[in-house]
Amino acid sequence: MPDIAEDGRTWVLSGPAASYAVHVTEGGELLHLHWGPRITPADAVALAARPLPACRPFESPLDGREEYPVEGGPRFVRPALSLRTGTRRGTEWTYEGHESGDGELRLHFRDGGLAITLHYRMRPSTDVVERWVTLDNHGPAVEVLRADSATWTLPDRDSWRLSRLHGRWGAESRLTRSELTHGEEVIGSRRGHTSHQHLPWVALDSGAGEESGEVYGCALGWSGSWRIAVALLPDARVQITGGAGYDDSGLLLLGPGESYTTPVFAGLWTDGGFGGASRAWHAYQRAYVIPDAGRDRPVLFNSWEATGFDISERQQRALAERAAALGVELFVVDDGWFGARTGDGAGLGDWTPNPDRFPDGLAPLAAHVHALGMQFGIWVEPEMVNPDSDLYRAHPDWVQYQPGRKRTEFRNQLVLNLAREDVRQYLWEQLDGLLSSAPVDYVKWDFNRCFTDAGWPQDPYPQRLWVDHVRGLYALLDRLRAAHPQVAFESCSGGGGRIDLGVLGRTDQVWTSDNTDPLDRLAIQYGFSQIHPARVMAAWVTDSPNAMFNHRTSSLKFRFVSAMAGVLGVGGDLTRWSEEGLAQARDWVALYKQIRPLVQRGDLYRLRPPQGGLSAVQYVLGDETVVLAWLQAQRFGEPAPALRLRGLNPTETYECPETGEVHRGAVLLHHGLRVDLRGDLDAAVVRLKRK
Ligand code: GLA
Repeated sequence: MPDIAEDGRTWVLSGPAASYAVHVTEGGELLHLHWGPRITPADAVALAARPLPACRPFESPLDGREEYPVEGGPRFVRPALSLRTGTRRGTEWTYEGHESGDGELRLHFRDGGLAITLHYRMRPSTDVVERWVTLDNHGPAVEVLRADSATWTLPDRDSWRLSRLHGRWGAESRLTRSELTHGEEVIGSRRGHTSHQHLPWVALDSGAGEESGEVYGCALGWSGSWRIAVALLPDARVQITGGAGYDDSGLLLLGPGESYTTPVFAGLWTDGGFGGASRAWHAYQRAYVIPDAGRDRPVLFNSWEATGFDISERQQRALAERAAALGVELFVVDDGWFGARTGDGAGLGDWTPNPDRFPDGLAPLAAHVHALGMQFGIWVEPEMVNPDSDLYRAHPDWVQYQPGRKRTEFRNQLVLNLAREDVRQYLWEQLDGLLSSAPVDYVKWDFNRCFTDAGWPQDPYPQRLWVDHVRGLYALLDRLRAAHPQVAFESCSGGGGRIDLGVLGRTDQVWTSDNTDPLDRLAIQYGFSQIHPARVMAAWVTDSPNAMFNHRTSSLKFRFVSAMAGVLGVGGDLTRWSEEGLAQARDWVALYKQIRPLVQRGDLYRLRPPQGGLSAVQYVLGDETVVLAWLQAQRFGEPAPALRLRGLNPTETYECPETGEVHRGAVLLHHGLRVDLRGDLDAAVVRLKRK
C-alpha cells in the first residue's frame, strides 16, 4: 500500500528493497523525489524540502525534476503528454487530489474538461513499479498527439551507461552497453509491432557489474509501435520517457465522453547488478504477467524446419510418431495446413483445413497426436491476408491501405485492419470455430510483416488504427483464452518480432528467433534473458548443418544444451535422423525434463557471456542447481576457466547425481566448478543437489 506523508502531498511506494516517491508542491507541480533503496515518508518529505534550482531565463527549474512533463509552459524537455484542441496546444493542469487502494496510487489532475490520472502500483513482494496514465475526456474533442505511459527520473550520478537490446530478423536481442552522452538516445518501432530491431527495454547503470551495483530498468508492455527516449539533460539529469506510438503526430482523437488508457511502463531499481535486475524482472513476470507461469511448458515438436509448406496428414503422422518416441509432449503443425496455402503466395485469411492435405479436417491428426500421448498445436497468422485468398477476394477493403496508392506486399501478404469491428468479428468466428472443430491445445500466433500502408479511408481519424490494431489483437487473444481456457498461445512474429510485457500477459511463450543455429542462439538468449525469463523462451533443436541460416555444423549435444536453456523444442526432420541420433535425443529430452523446473522457474545466473570461448548459465531452485556450459572454440594454451557458481550456500555440500561427485559450496562459489569441455562447439550440463 502506498504511504502518504504527513504533509498530505508526498507519497512513497515501497517493495522489499526499493522505494519510489513523488510530491505535489503547493504550486501544484508534480515532482519526482526518489527511486532507489527503501526510504521512509519522512525521508521523502526531507527530499521534498530541498529547493529547486534557481530560475534562469534560459533554463527551467522543472526540467529533469517533473514526474510527467506535459507540453507547454516553462518546460523544454521532451513532453510525455502532448495534446491539441481546435484552439490550443499543450496542457496546463491542476492537481485535484489522490486516491489509493488495491496497492495502487492514483494522482488526479485536470485541464478543463480533461481528467488526467497517473497510476502507480508496486505488486506485492516485487520492487517493480508499474506506471500508466488514463485520460478521461468530459469536454470537447481533444487530439492526443502523444501520451507516454511514464517518465522516469534517475538520481544524480557522475555518468551513466545505457544498455539496450537491438537486432534484426534472425539476430534479435543483441545486448549493447554504451556511455550516455548529452542529448537523447531514442529507440522504438514504427513498424506496427514490437519489432526485431529493439525490445522495449532499457537499463541504466553507473558502473554496475553482473552481480553488483545499481541498475535502473524500464520495460514497456505494448505490442505495437512504441518509443523510449533516454535524455541526458544539460544539468546531467537523466529522464526516460516512453509509451505507445513512435512519433508525436497523432495517436487518437478523444471525443467527448471517451477515455484512453496507456500501456504499462514498468520500472525496476536494484543494487544486485545486471543479474539481480534480470532475476527480479523474471520473478515479476512469472508472478504477475505470464499466465499460469507456475505450470511448466511442455517439450514441443514444430514441423516448420522439417517440412516447410510441403505437408500432408500422413507425413505429419509419421513425424508425430517419431516425436512421441523422443518424449516430446506437444506436436505443432506449422504453416501450410489451411486454405490454398501450399506456399507463401496464397491462403492466408482462409482458416479452414486444406481439403487435399487434410480431407477430414484436423481432427484425425489431432486424435492421432493425442493417442500418442502428446498435445496438439497449430500455426495461425490471423492478422494477415494473402491477396490470393477467398477472404481478400470477398473483402479487399478489410486491409490497411491508403486510397489510390499501392498496397505494399511483404511475403505476398497485406495487414488486416484489426481496428475494424467487422474484421475482429470475422477473426473471432474463424478462430473460435477452428478451436472448437478439433481438439487443439496450442496455437502459434504469427505476424510476418510490418505495417507499411497504415490507412483506413472510411475512418475520420485513420491513424488510430496503430493503437486500435493492438487493442484488437489483445481483445481477440483475451476472448479466445476465455472461451478456450485449455489452449496455450505462442507469440511469434517471424521469430522475435513481438516480445514485450503486453503480449506476454496473454501468451504462454514466445518464439525467440527464427534463427535456430545453436551458437547464434547463445547471444540471442543472453540478450533475451536480460529482461524475460527462460519460462517463455522457446528454443528448438533443428538439423545440422543449419540450412535456414548459417550452414554451421554442430553436434546434437551442442544443439540440445543450447536449446535446453529455455523451453525446449525439437524442429528437425526426424524422419532423417539416425537411430543413434534419435536415441541420444531421447536421453537429452529426458534430462531436460529433470532440469525443467529449474530452468523454467528457477533463478538465472549468467556465469559467463557468450563471447568467444566458454560461456555458461546456471539456474537455482530450492536445493538444486544446474549449469549449462558451452565452449565455442578451444585455443591452445587457453584452458577453459572454472565456473564460479552463484546462489549456493557456502556451508553446504552439493552432489552431482550423475557422477556422485561431491562439491563444497564455498569451493564452488569461490574457486568454481571445472567443466571438461574440449574442441569446438562442445557443451555440458552439470546438475548438483544439496546433500
Ligand atoms: C514465420 C515463423 C516461422 C514459421 C513461418 C511459417 O517465419 O517465425 O517459425 O512459422 O513463419 O510461415
